[in-house]
Amino acid sequence: MLGFDFYIYYLTKYRVNLIRPVTISGSMILDNDAELKRKNTEKFIKESYDPQNVGRMSDPDGFGEITGSCGDTMEFYVKAKGNIIEDVQFYTDGCGTTIACGSITTQMAKGKDIGQAIEISDQDVIKELGDLPEDHHHCAKLSADTLKKALTNYLTKK
Ligand code: FES
Repeated sequence: MLGFDFYIYYLTKYRVNLIRPVTISGSMILDNDAELKRKNTEKFIKESYDPQNVGRMSDPDGFGEITGSCGDTMEFYVKAKGNIIEDVQFYTDGCGTTIACGSITTQMAKGKDIGQAIEISDQDVIKELGDLPEDHHHCAKLSADTLKKALTNYLTKK
């Protein structure tokens, strides 16, 4: 039987919400869902507070800018060689969720074939981040749509 000390150790180690029930089976504690949520939260916080590929390129091959229904603006800048995306940057005046979406979208697109990158959807962005609250799904859409616009701009200039 697991003691109270171990229970508290587990809750602390995995930062499990005390309200959430934990299933104890023999000597194993099964709560993969809580562990997954913890990882997803860490990923989201990392992308919000330490975003990758932020900036405004001075001479991009492709550029896209969209202002979402919430009033936030997203910009994407693309450098490409043939069909391969060599570099991609984003800039936004939006909230932390928008920043996380922009950051993860650039990482998903970098090094990819244009045909693959243009297919990146808002659902792909949400999945890559782990999850997003329903009322912030539009941030992922703004990010994916702006990347598409920058890539379309590149393709029309090619
Ligand atoms: S709140 Fe406006 S795009 Fe996120």
